[in-house]
Amino acid sequence: MSRHILITAALPYANGPIHIGHLVEYLQADIWARYHKSCGRDCRYMCAIDTHGTPIMLRAQAEGVAPEELIQRFHGEHARDFADFDVGFDNFYTTHSDENRALAETFFHRLRDKGHIQTRTVEQAYCDECRLFLPDRYIRGTCPRCGAKDQYGDSCEVCGSAYSPVDMADPRCAQCGRPASRRSSEHYFFLVTAYEEMLRRWVSPDHLHPHVVAKLQEWFKEGLLDWDFTRDAPYWGFKIPGTEDKYFYVWWDAPIGYIASTENWCKREGRRLDDYWVSDEAELYHFIGKDILYFHALYWPAMLAGASFRMPNRIWVHGFLTVDGTKMSKSRGTFINARTYLAHLDPQFLRYYYACKLGPGTEDLDLSLQDFIARVNKDLVGNFANLPSRSAGLLAKRLENRLGRLDSGARTMLAAIQAAAGPIGDAYEACEYASAVRAITAEADRLNQYTEATRPWETAKADPESARTALTAVLNGVRLLAAYLGPILPRYPEKVARLLGCPTPDFTNLAERVEDRAIGQYDRIAERVEAAAVEAMIDQTKALQADHAAAEE
Ligand code: MSP
Ligand code: ZN
Repeated sequence: MSRHILITAALPYANGPIHIGHLVEYLQADIWARYHKSCGRDCRYMCAIDTHGTPIMLRAQAEGVAPEELIQRFHGEHARDFADFDVGFDNFYTTHSDENRALAETFFHRLRDKGHIQTRTVEQAYCDECRLFLPDRYIRGTCPRCGAKDQYGDSCEVCGSAYSPVDMADPRCAQCGRPASRRSSEHYFFLVTAYEEMLRRWVSPDHLHPHVVAKLQEWFKEGLLDWDFTRDAPYWGFKIPGTEDKYFYVWWDAPIGYIASTENWCKREGRRLDDYWVSDEAELYHFIGKDILYFHALYWPAMLAGASFRMPNRIWVHGFLTVDGTKMSKSRGTFINARTYLAHLDPQFLRYYYACKLGPGTEDLDLSLQDFIARVNKDLVGNFANLPSRSAGLLAKRLENRLGRLDSGARTMLAAIQAAAGPIGDAYEACEYASAVRAITAEADRLNQYTEATRPWETAKADPESARTALTAVLNGVRLLAAYLGPILPRYPEKVARLLGCPTPDFTNLAERVEDRAIGQYDRIAERVEAAAVEAMIDQTKALQADHAAAEE
């Protein structure tokens, strides 16, 4: 039976631009979605912009615009960034939608009816000046461990320790600098502890990478905590039904946004939401970064189970991006926005490079700029782009631009390349993209060896028909490579299809061979990357940062 697959990537916040760190995830999930689509499966890739919460409220205030306007602007910017990186969402929706509000309330009502929501009185930091309950990140003060001044309310950037703002001697409002006071109010708690047994069973290598399972087991050992999902007014979000001044915390309606995005898509496409989110006939996969594991692997499955939705088949958790071995940094110019990258470099380079380095684990992924230039030029350009351009060029120049027929040697060679589809497909399925790329490169090597052995550029004059046979074989080999690389480089199979006048190569049509016909023009997939372009991108990133700093002074 053909598989039905739903994929989500975490919803990017609406208060800042997409950067190359985010792209690790959106590309990792995109490659997975494109692989399944390439196999002819009914596969959908859902996302949305994450629109609620204090940072977005305060940023809109600072800019003097309504939050709706801020959200809309970032929604447009993000959508363009994703499109330009060939991230092919089936829906890029918003959490500030009617569907999402209704679903957020449905979850609330169902969990409350089960007795799994409780109210408790909570005392919190408050700014009398700003009339705002202060989230930890909006508090500054002295670190209770090391004494460093001007640290966040939840953790110290100097000694790295985590604490609560209550432990600080001098908590202040980060916005206005006044000392924070304390205030009590009633909050709603989701009794995650009621789901502990179910979660302990669910947390297994069937659903998560073994390293992630180990991490979650540590959290079980520390003891699960019930979750306060209330925020007091003023807050930007959905009001909790039956209250006047209480809102769902952004992390309540954010994952529910996966469902809302699917629902919005279903309405448009005439599909049934329950097929994806209630029945488990379809498969459900989440892609996330390791920083948001607690929400996705503990709270979210508990919410789903409690509200009678299905569980995910698997959560793929990736690590963080480093550049040249260190955290992305604004001052070093490595905190690179998607848009800045696009001004200087081809998006296919980043897709290819990340694929070369991605696996299913949570290790951080390093973008080494030297290695990036070397791999792109050697493999992507030197190998994958040059193979078709050299053979199509010779065919055009010497052999009337016509393919001939394959002989038995050519058929054997192509059958061998085609036989690699199994292991390459398995590598994609397992999120082992680095090994998929290695396996594809090995097939490109096979094709290069065949070219070396048949020497069409030498025989073209004396024995044009044998040269034609060899070039026909090479271009059919390229067709297979393009199918294999399609999930990573979606433009490649399209260009090869135009060149050969055949359907777009994918995992469903690997057995086809193209013979005996005039071919079109080859439009190269990529040109060499120059170190100067990379430097210019870093310089522009530094300049952007300097502009921001100047504007904030
Ligand atoms: N809005 C939440 C997610 C809600 S999902 C129901 C959020 N947004 S985010 O914009 O901060 O991050 C979106 C995704 O990008 C997260 O999975 C996060 O791990 C990932 N990344 C953000 N910065 C990253 C790096 N520097 N490196 C790799 N991934 C990173 O969290
Ligand atoms: Zn204040």
